Amino acid sequence: MFGLRPAAAAESSVLELGCGDGGNLLSLAQALPGARFVGIDAAGTAVERGNRLAREGGLGNVELLCMDLEELPEGDQLGVAEGAGLGVAGGGFDYVLSHGVYSWIPPRVRVALLAGVRRHLAPMGVAYVSYNAYPGSYLRDMARDVLGYHVRDISDPERKLRAAQELMQTIVAIEEPSPYAQVLREHMGRMLRYTDALLFHDDLAEISTPFYFHEFVEHAEQHRLAFLSEANLFESQMREVPDSAERLMAGLPNDVVVREQYLDFFKNRMFRQTLLCHADAPICRELDDTQVEGFAVYSAARGGEQDGVFETPEGYTMTSSEPLVLAAMGALQEAWPRALSFGELLERGVAAMEGAAVDELAEGEVAEDEVPHELVRARLRVVLLEAYLAQIVMLQGCAPPLVNRAGERPRASPLARAQGAAGLPAVSSLLHANVRLEGELEQRVLALLDGERDRAGVLRELGAGGDAAEGEVSREKVSREELEAVLERFAGVGLLAADG
Ligand SMILES: C[S@@+](CC[C@H](N)C(=O)[O-])C[C@H]1O[C@@H](n2cnc3c(N)ncnc32)[C@H](O)[C@@H]1O
Repeated sequence: MFGLRPAAAAESSVLELGCGDGGNLLSLAQALPGARFVGIDAAGTAVERGNRLAREGGLGNVELLCMDLEELPEGDQLGVAEGAGLGVAGGGFDYVLSHGVYSWIPPRVRVALLAGVRRHLAPMGVAYVSYNAYPGSYLRDMARDVLGYHVRDISDPERKLRAAQELMQTIVAIEEPSPYAQVLREHMGRMLRYTDALLFHDDLAEISTPFYFHEFVEHAEQHRLAFLSEANLFESQMREVPDSAERLMAGLPNDVVVREQYLDFFKNRMFRQTLLCHADAPICRELDDTQVEGFAVYSAARGGEQDGVFETPEGYTMTSSEPLVLAAMGALQEAWPRALSFGELLERGVAAMEGAAVDELAEGEVAEDEVPHELVRARLRVVLLEAYLAQIVMLQGCAPPLVNRAGERPRASPLARAQGAAGLPAVSSLLHANVRLEGELEQRVLALLDGERDRAGVLRELGAGGDAAEGEVSREKVSREELEAVLERFAGVGLLAADG
């Protein structure tokens, strides 16, 4: 965190401003049972829905409050229910989050939001605010204006959505050769893949105000908040750019805000997830690889066996023939979606280096009395930091409490079960991602994974009958193989909870 030492996530206090129905907070609360979460939103029904799900999901560490951002209390105390154990004893919250709100509220409320961040953020705390950014959002504005005109007389949300989608389908199908038409066509093609909720709230909303990054930072500075970093460090890098871009950057003032602004020009960025801290916090932007040792590491990257190329599902790649890298990435691949500690990776790395030329790790000759273990350790830190910056591995303060294989009595997280029972199409994984349930069987299996039943018990409940002993499941019923396939998928997406 660039010189700041905010509280460890596992024991932190978190406030979310504009939390909606708690989709984000509830998911965090299940993964971090020792942390405390408070959410604020003006939408009463969403708050009620979220609190109900939290109760049904057995989450005692999260509470949503129905409150307008303009009514945030003056002091640093929030009226969290007595006895809920969620109140923060002065000093503010370690993390204050606001996602998908800043660009969608009037100027007055934006001021209240940043003032609230300032007031409720602990001295070493970190705030996260996301917003639509220029110049990329001019594309959004273009589509918004077109759609806004088309649906101007429609008030029913459902009809509005359908009319907007119909117009976009029409525009996308017109093969007008002009490059200007093509830009709009491509953007609307992407928008047609949005969920209804995203299209309605982001692009058909009455207010949607993008900002240049430097404007947002100026707003923050008016509240004595400073730019700390982009939430994803990958976004603050230039990779494989031409020399001209390097030269241009080298000629810019040594000011992080200016440099980030130019990155937005280079990338035509349309959305930002910016981290802020108090203006007087001790920021130091040197990356220190020794910090890596404190993180749990996980990676969805696959491959490597033949060619040393590892690729994530999003298409980020890393190539290496170094035994240490191959060993660490192999261990992470086996463990997915479980995280490994630095120590576990080091052990694998040291084993892989046995017999390998240790002096490859050192820049010069290796002295006789030097401990290879320490060399491996130092190299592993650098490798993991590089892999993190390349989006190949994730670093997390605390390993997600999940298992990568279904045990004898598999248990899905209570929140996911409550979400499934409430009929939500997607449930929260322990990797803090939404997982869409594929078909009725997955819904039914999820409901039964309470950690009490073994496979035979689950099959019985699924209607396989009392004869569900090993190998005895009749054809027309759910087979053991089908159940096994569902369990494997659930394990792979982080839906199966570790015991305890
Ligand atoms: C687009 S939603 C984002 C919700 C959530 N953060 C998410 O990412 O799913 C914006 C939220 O801001 C809330 N909101 C808008 N104006 C508000 C205000 N003045 N006070 C409190 N909440 C407000 C809305 O009710 C809505 O839940």
